[in-house]
Amino acid sequence: MSPQVEHKTISGFSKLSKRKKIKWIVENFFKDPENVMKELVSYWHKDDKQQEILDGFSENTISNFPMPFGVAPNFIINGKPYVIPMVIEESSVVAAAAAAAKFWMSRGGFKTEIIGTQKIGQVFFKWDIGYTSIAQKLSAIKQHLLAHSLDLTKNMNARGGGIVDIKLKDFSDQEEGLYQLEGTFETCDSMGANYIKSLLERFGLELKAFAINHGLSEPEIIMSILSNYTPQCVVRASVSCKISDLGTFDQGTMTAKHFAQKFATAIRIAEIDPYRATTHNKGIFNGIDAVVLATGNDFRAIEACGHAYAARNGKYSSLSHCNISDGMFKFWLDIPLAIGTVGGLTKLHPIAKRSLELLGNPSAPELMSIIASTGLAQNFAAVRSLVTTGIQKGHMKMHLQNILNTLEATPEEKEKSIDHFSKQVVSFNAVREYLNTQRASV
Ligand code: MEV
Repeated sequence: MSPQVEHKTISGFSKLSKRKKIKWIVENFFKDPENVMKELVSYWHKDDKQQEILDGFSENTISNFPMPFGVAPNFIINGKPYVIPMVIEESSVVAAAAAAAKFWMSRGGFKTEIIGTQKIGQVFFKWDIGYTSIAQKLSAIKQHLLAHSLDLTKNMNARGGGIVDIKLKDFSDQEEGLYQLEGTFETCDSMGANYIKSLLERFGLELKAFAINHGLSEPEIIMSILSNYTPQCVVRASVSCKISDLGTFDQGTMTAKHFAQKFATAIRIAEIDPYRATTHNKGIFNGIDAVVLATGNDFRAIEACGHAYAARNGKYSSLSHCNISDGMFKFWLDIPLAIGTVGGLTKLHPIAKRSLELLGNPSAPELMSIIASTGLAQNFAAVRSLVTTGIQKGHMKMHLQNILNTLEATPEEKEKSIDHFSKQVVSFNAVREYLNTQRASV
């Protein structure tokens, strides 16, 4: 090992105290170790108990990574008002959600429909007795698995959930002797990942026990894990109004009818073209991820599932759709959302707990409705800008604050710049030049 590499590797790092971890990091990777040390420590929570909770979510923690926690008011969802908590680092996302919420507030608000709430888990195994033989025994296997997992399902059953079904799937045409037990689960208000994973591992063990009890060769369990693809756990969020009620756009220069047609064409483009669909869906996830994060849910699972769902017909496409007919404008989003409002981080993370409280401690289906509506609002706001003024005007206005911070503008310079750029096109260079001129004239 070269001295360079040796110097920057370490054994036993996880056993070091937090301060010693930081010390090793700053001394080996930073030019100004003392300042970096101070900076990292400054983000520690002032309450040791709270910091302990945060540290418990991960490993080798050295500090906390701050993200803005914003809110978007004026959402009316199924007739109920909400202020939506959003954790996001991108300028203009929260403003766009709030603007779309306000727009739809006077046009009936958002409506949602829960299309399903079931989740899937998989036990992959190899078994030399063949598909026909396994299929013949499936009913007995199921009975055995259900009878030997009662201890794990008792609580969920009492809450109205549990194991909905167990199916056998044949993959032996693609991989010799490969089969899958596919479990379908109802996990009520919890995301249910741990419940499902524990059950699946039990199924694997009990499938082997079944084989032994029946004097059969033993199956080899390859792996047992939940699937993050949940096309049976889907919510539809929609908005609709008379086209004439859409109002005018672009300072009155674009009629409601023209807007509706252009908007519908923009959605059609995202249905047709995967390059556009990716950006379009990214805009939807700007809203979705922000609420998923704020409520302590797993945004990686939600993203992975959403994109798989967007490609369910064999081609990556738009998650939202628009229809204009009979004088009506209809815009909707179908999205799989396997989320929870109990368990996981939901009650442990201090701010996630507050986010849920802000939303009135919703059930999981209610939170699915809230998240999907935020995604639809975000998508509406983005496409509305794209087909009218263009996205950069609003975006750069919101980004101005970041540019001013990067250029270390004083409060007075900020105030002047915000006033100046209310009538000018914002760009990094334009702001730098403006500040330079201001500073030179002092
Ligand atoms: C930017 O974060 C998101 C948008 O690009 C979405 C879209 O193009 O629809 C504005």
